[in-house]
Formats: sequence, structure tokens, C-alpha cells
Amino acid sequence: MGASLYEPINVYKPVSPDVGIVDGPFEYLTIAGVKLPLPFTTRMTIVRLTNGDLFLHSPIRFNDGLATELRGLGTIRHLVSPNQFHYAHIGEWLKAFPQAIAWASPRVRARARARHVEINFSRDLDPLPPEEWHREIDQTLFPGGYFKEFIFFHKASRTLILTDTIINLELDKIGEPWRTAAKLTGMYHPYGQIFFGMRLPLRLQRRRAKAVREKILSWKPERILLSHGRCLDADVDEVVSRIF
Ligand SMILES: [Fe+2]
Repeated sequence: MGASLYEPINVYKPVSPDVGIVDGPFEYLTIAGVKLPLPFTTRMTIVRLTNGDLFLHSPIRFNDGLATELRGLGTIRHLVSPNQFHYAHIGEWLKAFPQAIAWASPRVRARARARHVEINFSRDLDPLPPEEWHREIDQTLFPGGYFKEFIFFHKASRTLILTDTIINLELDKIGEPWRTAAKLTGMYHPYGQIFFGMRLPLRLQRRRAKAVREKILSWKPERILLSHGRCLDADVDEVVSRIF
């Protein structure tokens, strides 16, 4: 069986009053500028702040119908690249919503430039949340060396928002070679695991990893939204202590 999407795509799916997800179309692995026939799915998370601004975490490919739907939910304000691998569509959203703010992750500017993707990132994410959302969303920089990423926590809904930190692929929804890779690394549902590329850097930064782990545990998340695979919403306290 080949890859399948999280249908329906390009529509807002609420998970709590001010938080929702949008599943995207297939993306394709690109190596040295060559797009390979290896599809995978990705997902963005949207938080509506109390002032009506929308926080778009890891925006998926721009889509007119989706943009219209989101305009009905609030003002598209924050376009967030949580790590250097999730940024590719921010420029498309910025073009449609020039009043929005593009937030850069570490190294993302250089990565985008090297790939000739032009994005005017006007702000940088910091280990502490900015004035714009700190009352509603907390954040921390999860150490993972080259793969480090900012992870977010929406306080009111106790939602942990991740990109690649946890991968929980559903084996019947992916094709090869992802299926074999997921099995070998344990990154599949229901066992979702820390992305394998982060594991060695985490061991090398024990003190930092411990501090971040404690912060995540103190948040007591009740659901985990992620970009690749199935989101986690059952026995999340157990899942969090197992994974972290
Ligand atoms: Fe990813």
C-alpha cells in the first residue's frame, strides 16, 4: 500500500475552542535540489489568541480556500518556523498576508537562502515567548543539535505543539522507504518516539535536556499535536513520561 493523506486536507479541524490543525497535501523529500518520489504528509497547528490574531505553526502549502476559511477565524498574524526544516511555505502566506510576521528558527534563514527560497523573516524565536503570545503560549528550545526545534504549549487547552520532536507515523498510511525507517527507529503509532536524529545530541547535552524535560512535564499536556503521523490525545501523561 502506498502513502495516504490525512483527509480532508486544507480544512481547519478544531481540537479545542482556540486550537485546530490543518492537514496538508503531500510533500516530497528533496535532496540536493532534486525532488524524489517519496511523499510524506505534514500538518500545521493554528492557535487563535484572545486578541483575534492567529498563530500558524509550521504553515502548510498556501491554499486560497484555506486562507478564506482562516480569515473567518481571525487575523493571520504569526507565521512560525519552529525548526530549520519547516519553513518552505511561509513566504507564500506572507505574500498573501503582508501584515503578518514571519518568525525564524535557528539557521532557517541560511537554509532558505541556500535553497533560493525568499522569505522575509522579521523576528527570531527565543527560548522565552514574546510579548505577542506569552500570556497564552509558552515555549522552549528543545535541544537536538542540527535538529533542534522550538516547541510550544497552549496553556488554556494544555496542548503541546511539536514539529519533528515526536514522530508517530501510522504504518498503513506510509509507503517505503518510510515504513522500514519508521519500524527501525520505533517512530510509529502507537509508540511515537523522539525523532532519531535528536537522540545523540540529547545525550550530549544532558543538563539542557533535563531542564527542558522538566519544563515539559510541568506543563502537564493533555494532547500532543505533531506534524508527521497521528496526534496523541490518550494517556498523554504516560506518553510524555515515556517519551521524554
Ligand atoms: Fe518535519
